[in-house]
Amino acid sequence: MKSTEKNKKEDDLMEKIVSLCKRRGFIFQGSEIYGGLGGTFDWGHFGVALKNNIKQNWWKKFVESRTDMYGVDAAILMRQEVWQASGHVAGFADPMVECEKCHSKFRADQIQVETSNASGDASRLACPNCGGKLGEAKQFNMMFKTHVGAGEDSSSISYLRPETAQGMFVNFKNTVDAFHPKLPFGMAQIGKAFRNEIAPRDFVFRAREFEQMEIEYFVRSADWEKYFEYWKGEMLDWMEEVGIDMGKVHELEVDKEDRAHYSSRTVDFEFDFPFGKKELFGLAYRTDFDLKQHKLEYIDEEAKEKMVPHVIEPTFGVDRAVLTILLSAYTEDDSGEEMRSYLKLKPNIAPVICAVSPLLKNKLELVEYANTKVYAPLKAEFGKVAWDDNGNIGKRYRRQDEIGTPFCIVVDFDTLTDNTVTVRDRDTGKQERIKVVDLKKYIQEKI
Ligand code: GAP
Repeated sequence: MKSTEKNKKEDDLMEKIVSLCKRRGFIFQGSEIYGGLGGTFDWGHFGVALKNNIKQNWWKKFVESRTDMYGVDAAILMRQEVWQASGHVAGFADPMVECEKCHSKFRADQIQVETSNASGDASRLACPNCGGKLGEAKQFNMMFKTHVGAGEDSSSISYLRPETAQGMFVNFKNTVDAFHPKLPFGMAQIGKAFRNEIAPRDFVFRAREFEQMEIEYFVRSADWEKYFEYWKGEMLDWMEEVGIDMGKVHELEVDKEDRAHYSSRTVDFEFDFPFGKKELFGLAYRTDFDLKQHKLEYIDEEAKEKMVPHVIEPTFGVDRAVLTILLSAYTEDDSGEEMRSYLKLKPNIAPVICAVSPLLKNKLELVEYANTKVYAPLKAEFGKVAWDDNGNIGKRYRRQDEIGTPFCIVVDFDTLTDNTVTVRDRDTGKQERIKVVDLKKYIQEKI
């Protein structure tokens, strides 16, 4: 395929995902009715469900099923000393250029990549909006600044956290004192992070408000390489488990000059997004940088030795995970009379496990049967069960396909006499008759 055709196809795919997310109630533009607020998104019913499933799956694998991990849910607002010590006040910045004519602002490093791709000449930089001259690049600190309390002076400055990691480092001592863990052990947190991105773009890929799932894994310095490799494997396993297309995942050894100030080694997991190969998640060796900056140490009670552990940090963006899972799951099937698009989500990740429909919504006996004998017991068992009686059956199937619902169950007139229902499989479109008494077992087996 020619590269222009390929680019068009990829642009179309992004458009299809964005429009599906709005149409089916997954993700909306933030503050939409007031014209939108760049880099912010509001999550609708199915988006929240999908996001929760991803977070729960992550928490189960990395916290609940292990014996060496301690959960944290730290405050988003922290004292400014935290961010001074971590190096974020001094150095959490991107280079910004401003057009002298239309005053649009761009990230200098991104504009260089794009201009050099388009023209092959990175030195001839012009404003992508109006062609005007771009000014000198300046460093722009990406932390959102605010004030805590009634006074607004330098002592009341605080920041919305740009990474969840520091909330764990500042609770290192609390965790050690409360649980007396032996090395190696980890701390894990899921929560919001905020970055005043100069150019938020590509839907939820680069947002100003987003969520992270992070682990700080504390090891002896001599062991860091072993655990770096171990966590690489764990990260890849999880990606596969939640349905990310592994054929599109690549590992990138990040060059020294591109690494964060705290990292001595970083591997980025990149994904082939429709807008290019970009960072999905990251794995960093943060050395003993953060604990030392916060003047924290660990006492090995057996060896009676004081030391500063080293840190391996697997980090995952929730919003990038959602986008990647949606892109991996989106499927078009044009083998039938009309084109069918569906989300081939893994059942453990899908926002709805099954939808229950009475064949006709104005036939009371069908509605009553479907509600009391099918929907209510399945809802009680699985929770993520939808009632769908809107439009004809074909429309309901299309809707549930786009939500990614693995099974649609229909109660029809035969059900009233033989107590069987039709179960339609999302991926194959095939239908089978299943006894109502066997439904729970049938679904349980499939998921
Ligand atoms: N604690 C390390 C850290 O924050 P990072 O590479 O800056 O490292 C970690 O961010 C992850 O957070 C990224 O791999 C990505 O998944 C996600 N992320 C970062 N910036 C983001 C943004 N502006 N919008 C959405 N997700 C973002």
